[in-house]
Amino acid sequence: MKIETKITEAVKAIVEELYGQQVPDSMVQLQQTRPEFEGQITLVVFPFTKMSHKAPDATAQEIGERLVERLPEVVSAYNAVKGFLNLSISSRQWISLLQDIYENPKFGFLPVTDDSPLVMIEYSSPNTNKPLHLGHVRNNLLGWALAQVMEANGNKVVKTNIVNDRGIHICKSMLAWLKWGNGETPESSGKKGDHLIGDYYVAFDKHYREEVKELVAQGMDEEQAKQEAPLIKEAHEMLVKWEQNDPEVRGLWKKMNEWVYAGFDETYKALGVSFDKIYYESETYLEGKEKVEEGLAKGFFYRRDDGSVWADLTKEGLDEKLLLRSDGTSVYMTQDIGTAKLRFQDYPIDKMIYVVGNEQNYHFQVLSILLDKLGFKWGKDLVHFSYGMVELPNGKMKSREGTVVDADDLIATMIQDAKELSADKVNKLEGITEQEAQEIARIVGMGALKYFILKVDARKNMLFNPAESIDFNGNTGPFIQYTYARIRSILRKWNDVITLDEKAFEVGLAEKEISLIQRLQGFEAAVRQAGQDYNPSCIANYCYDLVKEYNQFYHDFSVLKEEDEAKRQVRLMLSAAVSQVVKNGMGLLGIEVPERM
Ligand code: ARG
Repeated sequence: MKIETKITEAVKAIVEELYGQQVPDSMVQLQQTRPEFEGQITLVVFPFTKMSHKAPDATAQEIGERLVERLPEVVSAYNAVKGFLNLSISSRQWISLLQDIYENPKFGFLPVTDDSPLVMIEYSSPNTNKPLHLGHVRNNLLGWALAQVMEANGNKVVKTNIVNDRGIHICKSMLAWLKWGNGETPESSGKKGDHLIGDYYVAFDKHYREEVKELVAQGMDEEQAKQEAPLIKEAHEMLVKWEQNDPEVRGLWKKMNEWVYAGFDETYKALGVSFDKIYYESETYLEGKEKVEEGLAKGFFYRRDDGSVWADLTKEGLDEKLLLRSDGTSVYMTQDIGTAKLRFQDYPIDKMIYVVGNEQNYHFQVLSILLDKLGFKWGKDLVHFSYGMVELPNGKMKSREGTVVDADDLIATMIQDAKELSADKVNKLEGITEQEAQEIARIVGMGALKYFILKVDARKNMLFNPAESIDFNGNTGPFIQYTYARIRSILRKWNDVITLDEKAFEVGLAEKEISLIQRLQGFEAAVRQAGQDYNPSCIANYCYDLVKEYNQFYHDFSVLKEEDEAKRQVRLMLSAAVSQVVKNGMGLLGIEVPERM
């Protein structure tokens, strides 16, 4: 039984004995004792003063006295500070808690059962005309971490992606490829498919701008020139053909999208993310039209004279929202309605979470209302997990066009930087093969990137600073990974089982050791908090605090060199439990930890 549970039960019994009242568990408020006081667990006594008709410290005093009598094996001493009763918990209890944590590889995780609620998390959701960029990296890392956190809180999780694979953007790339591509393929050029398509998108834009410039020089007004430029007209014709299922256009579209997917898959793999079910806009947008027609028939929406369909959300304090254009084609919102329909058919969704940047806050506010009107039971409470922008310090790694930071370039740079850093310490890792060194560099480079992004509150805009992220000191992934690797090296040296005999349970722990065990226990609360608030950064910061505290402990106490066998066993177990919780915590963030580093 948990220490807190034992105390709660005892306090309830004591209150009944002393004051003749039965109180609910929630009235027994236990906190961690503030560091300036003696003890580890503090009972807040104020709620009981109404029953005792005594001053807070007198009440604390009498409850404390009885607690020591009642639970001699748990509470070894107490002191009352006003309305706070600080309890010193016996070492034996902490050691037994340590053993529980050590023996439970899933400590802090709630089980997922058949009855668990189903949470669908959508993340990534790229367009297929360009490779992934730094914004997608933040999106993917957050989506993956959130999925792990939700699962650790006892939810069935379905990770999903909506690929916006159709529309004018992809037609632009297709057209440019037809015009200037000379049949180039990923094989013929050795380019990753998503980069290849991205390059043609850029090429389209370049030529298009030239055309617009030309028309303006001939005296056309700029807005009109943008509509009249031959290239954009051709792209629109292509989209119409696509919608009409023209076999040639569809064939090219399919081929080029396949190239893009192969490229995306490589990036996803490098980021360590994956999906359980991928939806494609080309398969969902028609469903959206149907749903809108249905809503129109039921009078939720209305049709204007030009034939376009709208939702009037002025009653909800929003504006009027276009759902179908006058030519019957669908818009971004229509696609989202269609995707929702299919997802709802495919899964018994209890909660839907969309991981999408904060520039789409309004879109999701509207979507929630529309889905609710259309009868989706999770529509009203859908969660838009809205995150802020991420940028690099000026001048760092801007791509050819000078605007976006390419995800693949960034990943490669991080791994290269990690490699160079560890080359300086190569003597520490004797006998390591080139392949192992590369693997460590990958783990450390990715750990630096992931941790730096995930430790920040998702809602905030942030600057990703590569040099700072990979620093081995400070609140960084490599700092945590390094501590993990060091513990693993201690445990390798021990090379024997860690068990506690009766003597080990009699060890008197120092405050720092107790506080470290308490910190370990706090993993559970950190995971719950992260789930409740949809906030993976809780876990990142927990891992940092744990590792910092372990390092202090390791600085102050010997582990392997401790001569008292019982103490050594406890400290080895403490070290092992820390490494296990660090591994699990970092695992929730999608961050691997190296055995050596
Ligand atoms: N592909 C879109 C973009 O790049 C994001 C899609 C977000 N998800 C959604 N269900 N609307 O802007």
